[in-house]
Amino acid sequence: MKSLLDERRILRFHQRLLGWFETHARDLPWRRTRDPYRIWVSEIMLQQTQVDTVIPYYEAFVERFGDVRALARGRADTVMKLWEGLGYYSRARHLHAAARMIVREHKGRFPSEFDAILGLPGVGRYTAGAIASMAFGQARAVVDGNVIRVLCRVFRIEENPKTAAVQRRLWSLAESLLPADRAGDFNQALMELGATVCFVKRPLCQACPLGDTCAARKADCQETLPAKAVRKAVPRRHIASAVIMHKGRILAGKRKAGGLLGDLWELPAIQTDAAAWTKTRLQKQLQEAFGIDAKVGRKLEEVTHVFSHFKLRAIPYLCMYVAGRCSCRQWSRWRWIPLDRVGRYAWSSGQKKLLERAAHAVGDQVAAARSSASTLRT
Ligand code: ADE
Repeated sequence: MKSLLDERRILRFHQRLLGWFETHARDLPWRRTRDPYRIWVSEIMLQQTQVDTVIPYYEAFVERFGDVRALARGRADTVMKLWEGLGYYSRARHLHAAARMIVREHKGRFPSEFDAILGLPGVGRYTAGAIASMAFGQARAVVDGNVIRVLCRVFRIEENPKTAAVQRRLWSLAESLLPADRAGDFNQALMELGATVCFVKRPLCQACPLGDTCAARKADCQETLPAKAVRKAVPRRHIASAVIMHKGRILAGKRKAGGLLGDLWELPAIQTDAAAWTKTRLQKQLQEAFGIDAKVGRKLEEVTHVFSHFKLRAIPYLCMYVAGRCSCRQWSRWRWIPLDRVGRYAWSSGQKKLLERAAHAVGDQVAAARSSASTLRT
C-alpha cells in the first residue's frame, strides 16, 4: 500500500492533519491522560456512543473506580448502575470481566503488549489499536466509522466499506499513513476530523485541513461517500408491560446475565402482536408467565425505544396485585420495590421511560384519592 502513496503525499497529510489537531482538538477528559485504564474505559464507552453522551458517564465511572484494581473489586450491580442509560450493556460486563482478568493474569497492571490488550474481553482490533497508540505510543492504526468516512472521501474509495475486501484495504491504508512517532495523536486527529468537520451530510470542506488533497472533494462527490449498503427493514416488537402495584411497591425482576439487557431490572412484560390485544389476555398471561394474579387497569402512554437491531413498542398497564408468588424463568431475581427506592436499581432507558409513566399514573391516583378524601371531609 505504501507504494501507492508517495512519501511526499504522506508527509503533507501528517503535517496538515496534526497541525490542525493541535489547534482544533476538543478538550475531552480522556485526552488529558495517558493512563491506559482511563483511555480503555473511554474507548469502550465511545463504541457506538457519542462523545457528549459519554463525558458524564466517563467522569462518574473513573471517579467511582479510579483504577483497574478498584474496578475488579467492584460489585457487578454498581458497574451496571454506572452504565445505566448508556446502552449496549454487554460492554459493562466485559469491562468488569477484563478488569478481573488484568488483576489475575497481569498482576493488576494494564498490559502494554498489543496481543494481550486484544485478548481482553470486549476489546477488538479498533479498541486495542486506540489503547496501544494513545496510551503506549505504539504505531497501531484505528479504523472506526469516522476514520472510514475520512479515508473513503480523501482517497475516493467508492466500494461499500462494510465488505471484507474494503475493510482490509482501509486497515492497510490507515497503517500505511501512520507516523511512527505520533500514532496516538494521528489516530485521534483522524477521528476528530470525522466527528467535527467531515460530517456525513454537508461536510465543512472549507474548514478541512485535507481539503486540497481530498479526491472526493475534487470530484464533488463527497456526500455520496462512503457508499451506503442497502438498509434492511428494522423489525418491530411489541410488548405489554405490567406496572403491578402492591402496598406502595412495584414488581420488578432482574434479567438473567448474558443476553440482551442482561443484569438490568425490568417490569414484567408479555410479547404481543399489537393487533390482537386485550386486558383479559394480559391478565391471563401474567398468571401463566409470572404466577401473579393481578387486576389489569388503565393503559398508560406508550414507550418506543430503538435498539441496534429492532424497534420496541411497549404499552404499559397499571395493575393491582391480587394474589400469587412471583416466578419467572427469564429473571435471576425479583423484588417488590418500594417506589422511592426504584432509583437504586439499574434499568435500561426504555424501562426508565416506563417507570416515569408509572410514577405519573401512581401520583395521579394518590392525588385523586387525596382530593376525594378532602371532598368527603368538607
Ligand atoms: N471516538 C472514539 N475514540 C475517541 C476519542 N479518543 N476521542 C473522541 N472521539 C472518539
